[in-house]
Amino acid sequence: MISGLIDLSSDTVTQPSDAMRKAMAKAPVGDLQKGEDPTVRKLEEMTAELLGTEAAVFLPSGTMCNQIAFRIHGSPGDEVIMHAESHPAHLESGAIASLCQMMIYPVSGDRGLFGPEDVRAAMRPNDVLYPRTRIVFIENTHNLCGGTIWPIDLIRSVCDTAAELGLARHLDGSRLFNASVATGISLREYCAHFDSCNVALSKGLGAPVGSMLAGSKAFIDEALRWRRAFGGAMRQAGIIAAAGIYALEHNIDRLAEDHANAKVLAEGLALIDSIDIDPTSVETNIVLFDIARTGMDVPRFMSELISRGVRMSSYRGTKIRAVTHLDVALADVKKAVDVVKEILA
Ligand SMILES: Cc1ncc(COP(=O)(O)O)c(C=O)c1O
Repeated sequence: MISGLIDLSSDTVTQPSDAMRKAMAKAPVGDLQKGEDPTVRKLEEMTAELLGTEAAVFLPSGTMCNQIAFRIHGSPGDEVIMHAESHPAHLESGAIASLCQMMIYPVSGDRGLFGPEDVRAAMRPNDVLYPRTRIVFIENTHNLCGGTIWPIDLIRSVCDTAAELGLARHLDGSRLFNASVATGISLREYCAHFDSCNVALSKGLGAPVGSMLAGSKAFIDEALRWRRAFGGAMRQAGIIAAAGIYALEHNIDRLAEDHANAKVLAEGLALIDSIDIDPTSVETNIVLFDIARTGMDVPRFMSELISRGVRMSSYRGTKIRAVTHLDVALADVKKAVDVVKEILA
């Protein structure tokens, strides 16, 4: 977070608070690869308990969680069914191809969602001509589609169908805390439908580093090998794991504030004539809006924002993305609306 800037470019820009830094400074640590870091062990146990899984492992990033899950559930040449706008399809440097040597079968659907019939249609026939379909991947909330929450009944029907077809089910829950706080549906209830899931500590929860990959004991044992192989096995990682523990203990419920602020932002933007946005589509902390009708191009809009102390990010064409988080207050989102008004006046 750049000082003085209202930074709505992502929920990854948060600064660790003083209390979080204190927890990090006093964390007992040890060599993680020898299984001797007590703080990491505590974080992994807390996470498994929260998500209702047998085990969990601390990893440096959400990207590594997804790639390790793909690598365990599938093999080179296999295919993963996912929404066309999913994070691994666009924002993981092609790792599913380069690291896992696997393919994506992209399915489309409104706002990052798809149904059991899409899974059946995407399933490859058992014939040497085709890749083997092995995994169904769901992103909840859905990042590029604007923080969409997957309805639990849809999750159930997609995952039941996947299980019936013999497919593994992986949940990218980088923002699952947001979904859970917004719906009141527990993390455990969401995760129960999947073979593996990951949650991020470094997004809405405000920790500086890390994601947790969770699943059965056998899955996590295998993940430990891939963590090492992918270069994610750290040493005295308790220093950063302590921030994760702090985040789990203090920063989950407050996500409701981010959701309320995102609503205020969306409703304010909706009052500006030339901006296209449906505030009712804002379910969590991500606001997408379109500036096509403003007559201003995206680079100019962005630089006008920055020159007035507000940062957002651009997302394909004329879509702009603004994300609320723990370093953004209600007054900041109100100011951001005023700045957009001023730019377009
Ligand atoms: C849905 C989703 N999955 C995975 C990731 C990757 O997380 P990381 O940046 O920690 O690799 C992100 C990051 O924004 C994300 O939004």
